[in-house]
Amino acid sequence: MRALWALLLVLAKGLAATNPPNIVLIFADDLGYGDLGSYGHPSSITPNLDQLAAGGLRFTDFYVPVSLCTPSRAALLTGRLPVRTGMYPGVLEPSSLGGLPLEEVTLAEVLAARGYLTGMAGKWHLGVGPEGVFLPPHQGFHRFLGIPYSHDQGPCQNLTCFPPSTPCEGSCDQGLVPIPLLSNLSVEAQPPWLPGLEARYIAFAHDLMADAQCQGRPFFLYYASHHTHYPQFSGQSFAGRSRRGPFGDSLMELDAAVGALMTAIGDLGLLKETLVIFTSDNGPETMRMTRGGCSGLLRCGKGTTFEGGIREPAVVYWPGHITPGVTHELASSLDVLPTLAALTGAPLPNVTLDGFDLSSVLLGTGKSPRQSLFFYPTYPDDVHGVFAVRNGKYKAHFFTQGSIHSDTTPDPACHAASPLTAHEPPLLYNLSEDPGENYNLLGVVAEITPGMLRVLKKMQLLKAQFDAAMTFSPSQIARGKDPTLQICCQPGCTPHPTCCQCPDTQG
Ligand SMILES: *[C@@H]1O[C@H](CO)[C@@H](O)[C@H](O)[C@H]1NC(C)=O
Ligand SMILES: *[C@@H]1O[C@H](CO)[C@@H](O)[C@H](O)[C@H]1NC(C)=O
Ligand SMILES: *[C@@H]1O[C@H](CO)[C@@H](O)[C@H](O)[C@H]1NC(C)=O
Ligand SMILES: *[C@@H]1O[C@H](CO)[C@@H](O)[C@H](O)[C@H]1NC(C)=O
Repeated sequence: MRALWALLLVLAKGLAATNPPNIVLIFADDLGYGDLGSYGHPSSITPNLDQLAAGGLRFTDFYVPVSLCTPSRAALLTGRLPVRTGMYPGVLEPSSLGGLPLEEVTLAEVLAARGYLTGMAGKWHLGVGPEGVFLPPHQGFHRFLGIPYSHDQGPCQNLTCFPPSTPCEGSCDQGLVPIPLLSNLSVEAQPPWLPGLEARYIAFAHDLMADAQCQGRPFFLYYASHHTHYPQFSGQSFAGRSRRGPFGDSLMELDAAVGALMTAIGDLGLLKETLVIFTSDNGPETMRMTRGGCSGLLRCGKGTTFEGGIREPAVVYWPGHITPGVTHELASSLDVLPTLAALTGAPLPNVTLDGFDLSSVLLGTGKSPRQSLFFYPTYPDDVHGVFAVRNGKYKAHFFTQGSIHSDTTPDPACHAASPLTAHEPPLLYNLSEDPGENYNLLGVVAEITPGMLRVLKKMQLLKAQFDAAMTFSPSQIARGKDPTLQICCQPGCTPHPTCCQCPDTQG
């Protein structure tokens, strides 16, 4: 009898091991490398994220391939560089004709085919298009509650402040429809009051998890927070509560959302069956000064190919499977899709992927298969190719260009006024010794060693080979705009676009 029980227990454990884990992918917005307590910020209040970092694997060298919302989100969800998916140059707008092509296979489609219930809450920014053809319900998400682009891509007076109807700082983009909150393909509110959103997203997430559990299937939640993108906002419990002003309040609300998601997972008894990933789409928008984020010791921020634009905080948490610790292995948001496909037993899409399977790094069974990273600017072209290459400890900048998003930092190389500059030989940094990219190894000719020359040759070869092998897909963003594509809850109303307002019935 005892033997039989033991056998049953072994069988049950075997079955559990073959059940793919639930996946929660939390994506912050314009959050820099130096913004979290666990990444050294002295006045941020991020206890929930710090707890994830302490109990999970914290990455020091995790990158996004492009330092801007639309391309970074496309890369995360497809495992492909944005030049391959047409998600360049710049970002999609509310009137854009293009979007993430439907033939691209998203992480949601990969996991839905594996039996997952899939849902997304928050910021999409991969296109709306005619009749909303590019929205999440057409890209693998069974459920969607969120805003189809950035919350500053529409007039934002009165939207971000607590209490409601107090005038808010900033006006965002004028002359567009108010931002819509969509529930699947329908408008739930236009515009929604932003400080009330987080609670709705958490309720949505909770329902998704509970429904999946009832149906006996795993869930995939993509939680793409609006925090900490300009303009900052936060609900009643956070406004004015942090030590770091409006940015800190907004980050505190994001952190609390992470805590609420973890509580929901725990209440369902699913902590050990749920893999949680946290990272951000690009570096801080320092042009917002104290209301933008912080890249810590890294150079520049959003919009640039310096480390501050592309290196991100990243944590993967899966108790009982991932040993807590810190890893210095190279990793990219491009690796999320192939890694999750491997961990869940889902087949990979039959396309050229730019990501690697990092499950050996997560499970502690081996080193990262990734040796190099290639970085394009926000306005890439195939004449210049990649601007920067990282290989092992080293990074070479073949071209640099400042960005308005990185204005106000003490370093003028970051600013919009810093023009496109070719570097021949490239600027070469040893990121092990110099993560801040302060000391060009080739800067003092008399001090150049044969070792440095070998690194230089290798970098030049990597760039040449990579550029030669890359084929740009036609740009989706350059397809242009049609103002009639903007979502309006009262089609045909006047005066357009301000008349597109529908009260928030649940807010
Ligand atoms: C979206 O559609 C799904 C499937 O019909 C439904 O379960 C869900 O409640 C809808 N709304 C949201 C916000 O997901
Ligand atoms: C903001 O609120 C004020 C006062 O209620 C109102 O007069 C103004 O029209 C509102 N602005 C927008 C863009 O909705
Ligand atoms: C993968 O795609 C290639 C090229 O599009 C095609 O030739 C091949 O048959 C596909 N393989 C599978 C297994 O679908
Ligand atoms: C880069 O830094 C590492 C760590 O200190 C060192 O071992 C290596 O020699 C350096 N490389 C060069 C070319 O200076």
